[in-house]
Amino acid sequence: MEIKKVLIIGAGQMGSGIAQVMAQGGLTVILRDISEEYVQKGVKTVDKNLAKAVEKGKLTLDDKAVIMSRITGAVELTTEICAVDLAVEAAVENMDIKRDIFQTLDRLCPAHTILATNTSSLPLTAVAATTKRADKVIGMHFFNPAPVMKLVEIINGLATSQETFETVHSLALKLGKEPVKVEDFPGFIGNRVVIPMINEAVYALMEGVASAEDIDTVAKLGFNHPMGPLALSDLIGNDTVLSIMEVLYAGYGDSKYRPCPLLKKMVQAGYLGRKTGKGFFEYTR
Ligand code: CAA
Repeated sequence: MEIKKVLIIGAGQMGSGIAQVMAQGGLTVILRDISEEYVQKGVKTVDKNLAKAVEKGKLTLDDKAVIMSRITGAVELTTEICAVDLAVEAAVENMDIKRDIFQTLDRLCPAHTILATNTSSLPLTAVAATTKRADKVIGMHFFNPAPVMKLVEIINGLATSQETFETVHSLALKLGKEPVKVEDFPGFIGNRVVIPMINEAVYALMEGVASAEDIDTVAKLGFNHPMGPLALSDLIGNDTVLSIMEVLYAGYGDSKYRPCPLLKKMVQAGYLGRKTGKGFFEYTR
């Protein structure tokens, strides 16, 4: 099956990025969130990113207009809105919310629709089991910022069919991404490796081993990382980093995944990173 029309659930940082990738890949996109304000914010983010590409001479104004014309917004989920080939859920990392979304999509989408989740850590098999089409449920995990990062982890649940896998794998290639097949274990590969690294950097900061700037300098100059772990945490969102650590800790039951108390405190204070203007570093809007 060729995927031509997609519904993205969640117009936040990841949802809007995925919408941009899909629209640039020639797909018709419906970007859905729980309020018109969130939807418009997501659409505006795509518009801004494309405007920057036009400024840099990487896109023409006409290209931008064509890409934007492929994206429409939605708030209500109806059978009309859900008449798509693929739905990609990019909502918050909360199993109850995902269960609700998947059950609604399962009810409203046509029988052929593949239901994908961009979950970065929750068990795909459990998400699939909330539907009556577990063979058509799959993980499609993009990395942040989605329009830039080449990797897509593709995660099969226990019941995901080979046909579903092949359809999503082909789509990722068509979108110019590099898909990697990963088994359904907590954190998959990407987050199992990167999130504990960030957590360890927060421990080093809490213990006063070095300043936030110097910790990040070590990663940038010592390992050629494009940004340090603390700036990366601010980019991902410190709340998301904490929730992934909690999933790793619960999923493996291993104390090496215990979330750093300073990370918890940052989240309690609302210092979530770029999206709130303050995290380990300050961001002017
Ligand atoms: N959305 C879209 N495009 C963006 C962007 C965004 N949020 N941020 C940067 N870009 C684009 C820029 O427009 C620019 O595009 P061109 O090359 O076409 O000009 C390009 O990315 C480079 O950006 P900048 O020159 O502004 O800055 P940079 O060179 O410092 O790159 C970065 C920024 C791409 C974020 C880079 O620092 C980087 O790769 N950082 C590491 C990101 C990373 O590790 N991501 C994975 C996080 S883990 C994850 O996502 C998993 C999870 O589930 C939590």
